[in-house]
Amino acid sequence: ICNQNMADEIETVTLSEEDVQTAGKELLECSRYGELKELKEMLQSCLPEGEANFGAWHRIPASIINFKDLQGSTGAHRACANGHVDVLSFLLEIGAEHAQNDNGNTPLHWAVQNKQKEAIKILCEKVTDLDVLVQNRDGKSSLTYGFDAGDTDILKILLEHKSAEALQKKSQNEPDSEDAVSEKDEQVQTFLHEINFGTDKSILCREIGFNSGQLDEQDNLETTGAVIWAASLILSRWVIELKHIFADKLVVELGAGCGLPGLTACRFTDASRIVITDLMSKTFENLQYNVDKNLQRSSSKRPIDVHALDWCDEASWPSSICNGHTQILIGSDLVYSLDLVAPLINTILNLLDKKGGTFLYVTMDTSRAGFKEFCEGLQQAGLSMSKKIAPKEFLLNPLKSQDKVAFDLHFGEIHERTFHMYTFVRNEA
Ligand SMILES: C[S@@+](CC[C@H](N)C(=O)[O-])C[C@H]1O[C@@H](n2cnc3c(N)ncnc32)[C@H](O)[C@@H]1O
Repeated sequence: ICNQNMADEIETVTLSEEDVQTAGKELLECSRYGELKELKEMLQSCLPEGEANFGAWHRIPASIINFKDLQGSTGAHRACANGHVDVLSFLLEIGAEHAQNDNGNTPLHWAVQNKQKEAIKILCEKVTDLDVLVQNRDGKSSLTYGFDAGDTDILKILLEHKSAEALQKKSQNEPDSEDAVSEKDEQVQTFLHEINFGTDKSILCREIGFNSGQLDEQDNLETTGAVIWAASLILSRWVIELKHIFADKLVVELGAGCGLPGLTACRFTDASRIVITDLMSKTFENLQYNVDKNLQRSSSKRPIDVHALDWCDEASWPSSICNGHTQILIGSDLVYSLDLVAPLINTILNLLDKKGGTFLYVTMDTSRAGFKEFCEGLQQAGLSMSKKIAPKEFLLNPLKSQDKVAFDLHFGEIHERTFHMYTFVRNEA
């Protein structure tokens, strides 16, 4: 009897390839959605009926437990990304591996990228060969993402793991870790994205998630530009497509938020100067950070400045870009309130060159308050208007890592909305 029991313990059930596929795919779905009960029921159904097999998870083949999707990610990856800790614990208990997917990301990479603190703790406790320094194909370890996460608890858990010992001293001296710690004090989380529009150059762009529970109305207004809106990804790709018209031009971005289109103009065009503007203090600090971060890693000597510019306060407008000096003006998702339409039109008309000045504008919502009045106002002022829908290739994942979960998490609206690209040209006699 004893021998029979031991044999039962090590023997996994034999299933057809088709059954393994079906069970593996279901395991992936249950892990993604945190369906522990359904997961157990499904696995139970893979076992031959009988009391001895009830809950005999050791008999489930590893090919199901570690079933991979088309990118090589497993149920453990998905449970980690979505913070389903009960599913994750169960998978680890029944023998799930902590493996790298095709991009080199481990479940820990995904847990850290998505700030799933509890999942990170579980991995650190239960995975015996966990290594926080294992790098993905972009050369980034979970610890690197920990520094970018802007969450001191996460950073602490990772740094305290035994696999981080070798780097601990060095890491604590790196500027990014200091950024992360100080920002946690202000209840913010930061995401530093490496954006690559399919060329050999990439752009670093940080966005900030504020703890919304602590924000009042003024704060909300102040933080709208601290996140990267999907329209700015479209505008950035459009800037690259139209780079020939930027040569030797003074380019200004209005209401830039995180400043990705302006940074794109700096990196990809031969503009003579780029001025990126916004007004809110939190947004502005982040904008300056993004410009500095990209200047540090690029050899470009193209002049790029950040200026505070309030559409409602002419005294804040820098003279070097005013009175028709701006040849190309760019902006995304600027119109969302009727009150701001007149000041915004006034700003555009003041800045834009009267001889061929061009304003490129992208929005994901043409039904927003004030948008109709905005278009009519510019046309009444003599600007010609043309529009088109963003082409499919502008909607592709721009993250250098090609991480789909992160793309959906941060820019999910790109799949749901139609993006409209407007060109306004001024030609006054
Ligand atoms: C919806 S966000 C879009 C940000 C960025 N263009 C993007 O697409 O990610 C609107 C931006 O307009 C800026 N803004 C709002 N009112 C403004 C004003 N009166 N003057 C200048 N900028 C303003 C906000 O600070 C914010 O950055």
